[in-house]
Amino acid sequence: MAEIAVIGCGQAGLVVATAFASLGHQVLGIDIDRRKVEACSRGICPIQEPGLDALLADGVQSGRLTFLAEYPDRIEADFVFIAVDTPTLPSGASDLRALKSATNSLAPVLRDGAVVVNKSTVPVGTCDEIERVLRTSGAPGATVVSNPEFLQEGDAVRNFTRPDRIVLGSNHPASLARVSSLYQDFDAPIFACDVRTAEMIKYASNAFLAMKISFINEIASICDVLGADVSHVAGGMGLDPRIGEKFLRAGIGWGGSCFPKDVTALEYAASLHGVRAQLLRGVVETNRDMRRQVIRKLRAEIGPIEGARVVVLGASFKPHTSDIRESPALEVANLLRFGGAEVLVVDNHVAPDAVTAQFPHLTVADDLLGAADGADALVLATEWPEFLELPLEELARVMRRPLIVDGRNVLDDRIVRAAGFVYRCIGRPGAEGGGIVINEGIDREPVHLRNGRSPVLASD
Ligand code: UDX
Repeated sequence: MAEIAVIGCGQAGLVVATAFASLGHQVLGIDIDRRKVEACSRGICPIQEPGLDALLADGVQSGRLTFLAEYPDRIEADFVFIAVDTPTLPSGASDLRALKSATNSLAPVLRDGAVVVNKSTVPVGTCDEIERVLRTSGAPGATVVSNPEFLQEGDAVRNFTRPDRIVLGSNHPASLARVSSLYQDFDAPIFACDVRTAEMIKYASNAFLAMKISFINEIASICDVLGADVSHVAGGMGLDPRIGEKFLRAGIGWGGSCFPKDVTALEYAASLHGVRAQLLRGVVETNRDMRRQVIRKLRAEIGPIEGARVVVLGASFKPHTSDIRESPALEVANLLRFGGAEVLVVDNHVAPDAVTAQFPHLTVADDLLGAADGADALVLATEWPEFLELPLEELARVMRRPLIVDGRNVLDDRIVRAAGFVYRCIGRPGAEGGGIVINEGIDREPVHLRNGRSPVLASD
């Protein structure tokens, strides 16, 4: 078993620290946030992530997991993971201040022979720079291995303990081999490459996934005008294993703490070196346009949105997380608000203060029916399970105008329309009542929601 230190106990770092401790390693977590360290030291998880609280409590109780808010005089660990935030600056560049500060703090306290493993998403070339700084400021023998994380919020513990792949990049084969020994019992391929390639794999992976979503969203916009159904287009495409069914759910687009920042940072890095990454620009622009589509669809039904009362269902950037960073739902809410609409956001999984601290002009409501009273439209923006079972009849009764714009294509259009609503969605004009039904009167199974998301006809 190894001694491991993890610098940064946020969304990624805490998963890494607790998971390695659960495998029997001795782990020290270091974070400059004293309150977070105090909570973690008592086994109280400061982050909402399924399974993490149990891992943390076990680790602390067993004594294999400890935390510090300051760097000790010497870190005895064989491996020091860096997992600090690298947000985007307004210019599009990555903000590497936390990473630089961690590197500077580490240099004088690293023990000889320790390998520094970087998990933070960083511009290509950053690990070389970390190594240079470490070697010139107190740790002449330091080596760095890039080990990008591919953790999805809400599924991060499983993603870490049962990964699809482990990417290790280093210019030092011996260090890379040592880090790979940490993962020897994981049932996943270990992909070894040079350090810059590993850094790029992380960006390229996130950019590709964002592109896949923007692609299906662009197809959805075309479906809207040509009369095809994007859900079934995605279903039909996804059966080709070269394409795959995942990340083809059309809607108001992607958000969160990773995709927006990583696509922007990659495009920025390319432009800095004279490469016009046109596809990446398109990926971002299409994503932005999906938010605007909601406004256009509302306008088509209710005319000017100024003065309209609109309830936005969802505040988090996706279901099963309270994270509102770069949330498509809140971007739609903001567009509506700035267009002069009265906007009420309903999401009982997100603290109202978290929304209003960032967007004071938005109103958060906890009572759906109260919010919908007199409303002109509902916009389903985050597909929380409870929004799949809306009290449609009651809502139709209290709303001034029973209109739903389903920004995630998750509702059963026939049920919604049967309750008296006008139904609008993304890339499924037939579901909106505008398509030509050729088998009217023919008995068929109702539309089922596969995984609660993509509709498929059971008997067609
Ligand atoms: C993502 C990557 O999946 C993960 O590998 C990386 O390490 C961090 O970034 P996460 O931000 O947790 O993870 O969210 P993810 O589940 O990937 O969803 C991102 C966004 O895309 C959400 O806003 C989601 O609603 C949207 N999305 C996802 C779609 O609009 N359609 C889809 O088909 C899939």
